[in-house]
Amino acid sequence: MTTKPRKPDEESYIYTEGVDYSQTGKTSIWGVGDKDTLELLNKIEISGKWLNLAAGDGRYNLNLLEKAGSVVASDIDESALDKLRQNTPEELRAKLKTEVFDITKQFPFDDESFDGVFCTGTLHLFPTEILRQILSEIDRVLRSKGKLIIDFATDIKRILPDGKLYVRKSEPQYKAEEAAKFLRELFHNYQIQIRESEVPEEEIETRGFVYRFCCKFILLTANKK
Ligand SMILES: C[S@@+](CC[C@H](N)C(=O)[O-])C[C@H]1O[C@@H](n2cnc3c(N)ncnc32)[C@H](O)[C@@H]1O
Repeated sequence: MTTKPRKPDEESYIYTEGVDYSQTGKTSIWGVGDKDTLELLNKIEISGKWLNLAAGDGRYNLNLLEKAGSVVASDIDESALDKLRQNTPEELRAKLKTEVFDITKQFPFDDESFDGVFCTGTLHLFPTEILRQILSEIDRVLRSKGKLIIDFATDIKRILPDGKLYVRKSEPQYKAEEAAKFLRELFHNYQIQIRESEVPEEEIETRGFVYRFCCKFILLTANKK
């Protein structure tokens, strides 16, 4: 089990939490999951080999594992993936692989090697030019007719106990309308369904400090043509 925190380096687009995940309890540091995302995961058909990109400490990974043939959970933070594995029941572990890599670089997978790609809570952190690179890698590793589920947070507020706002360095701070337009443009080759939702204010604890978090978010499901 890796206990070494992965320090963030936001100038290089590494938005880790810098925490030792083995000390963060069993529940994900991001909570139990958003209602709409859980509902979607419940009802949508998921089969074959899935990639859970920037999976973190596994907030939605069991929902994927229960349905998919197999799941590769990836993140740049090895200690988050170790917690994810520890929290995976024995009977599902045979279907799980973990892979540590930087999402902004070429993914370590062959073309069209996944039936589905899932990515939540992460893409909004990157500026548009990096986002284009990430989405072109997602497109490369996803097979034709494959399925994509992503969410995209907008209008984010992180409020510190003294009332000041906490903004992550180099974070673009997307607004709902521009993000929806941008995503539609990026996925013009896909059949997409967009659902708009929001995260009510909740408490997040990270690197020795606590903040209140709320945002709107776009939940997008897409089928590659
Ligand atoms: C807000 S968390 C979301 C985690 C998970 N997907 C979820 O919805 O609970 C963002 C995740 O992205 C990972 N991350 C940040 N920068 C990354 C990068 N450049 N490459 C890969 N993963 C990265 C972090 O370590 C963290 O686990």
